[in-house]
Amino acid sequence: MADHEIKTIGVLTSGGDAPGMNAAVRAVVRIGAQRGLNVVGIRRGYAGLLKEEMLPLAPKDVKDIIERGGTFLYTARSKAFMEKEGVLQAAEILRKHAIDALVCIGGDGTFRGALALSKVGVKVAAVPATIDLDLACTDYTIGFDTAVNTAMEAIDRIRDTSMSHERISIIEVMGRKAGYIALWTGIACGAEDILLPETYDYNDRALIDRILERLKAGKKQNIIVNAEGVGQSESLAARIENLTGIETRATNLGYMQRGGSPTCKDRVYASLMGERAVSLLLEGRSSRAVCHSGGEFIDMDLEEALQMKRELPANFLALTTDLVRQYH
Ligand code: F6P
Repeated sequence: MADHEIKTIGVLTSGGDAPGMNAAVRAVVRIGAQRGLNVVGIRRGYAGLLKEEMLPLAPKDVKDIIERGGTFLYTARSKAFMEKEGVLQAAEILRKHAIDALVCIGGDGTFRGALALSKVGVKVAAVPATIDLDLACTDYTIGFDTAVNTAMEAIDRIRDTSMSHERISIIEVMGRKAGYIALWTGIACGAEDILLPETYDYNDRALIDRILERLKAGKKQNIIVNAEGVGQSESLAARIENLTGIETRATNLGYMQRGGSPTCKDRVYASLMGERAVSLLLEGRSSRAVCHSGGEFIDMDLEEALQMKRELPANFLALTTDLVRQYH
């Protein structure tokens, strides 16, 4: 397809917000305009698309947003869009507004929505943005770098006070289904234990035995990074305190991990990915996922991207036992 067949592109952010989404939208708007396109922002993701929440975006409209967390287009999750009816209606709305192609920025649900739209004839490019890093097709998602750095700083602070009181601290980080945030921050903060939804066997007794072993070796203070997907941090803290006699506190870092100014990496990678999405659409390559793999930005078929499965990396997992738990 030749460039001139696409005159107007839409851009939306959907699902959980992620720091760097604004940088990606900004890149889509400015690169699009630079290449002669009209760009329309769609507010509140697929939910907003169904309500025709559109606004034309010129380069000046995306000034002063690259450094801001969240998404200035707002985001939402849409139940109606999960149904075939909703998808057909969305495609009709895009036609009505003469939007020839759509850049969808978000995580797994956003990618699935983009695929559904492409199956009813909408040209789409999907850009990965989720703090959870839980898209198997890419080793980088917009927002993860900021989230782990935010969580790391918070855990370091908790370590200071926990150490001073010789307490055990369980720190719950985000990741309902995936343990990447826990894995990275646990390693980075020198946690004594890391509990991941992918591997934790809910054998609290084994965890407590390890704490007791460290206690025998003279260590009272423990940082245990727990993923949201494992959860139960408060009750686990109570059980640990009961069985070890050491004061144990639970802290849930919660939504503070999802906000805040994006890191340099998230701003730059998001900009590159936004550019790539526009280029793909202009090259007539639709239903593509922009990914990062083996140190390079690549793109792949969206359906194949969504079928991919990924295990937590073995070398990272090895550190959770071989490095993290060592204490003599
Ligand atoms: O953005 C990803 C994520 O933070 C997950 O870790 C978490 O399960 C989910 O979003 C919670 O988001 P919300 O409460 O907005 O539905």
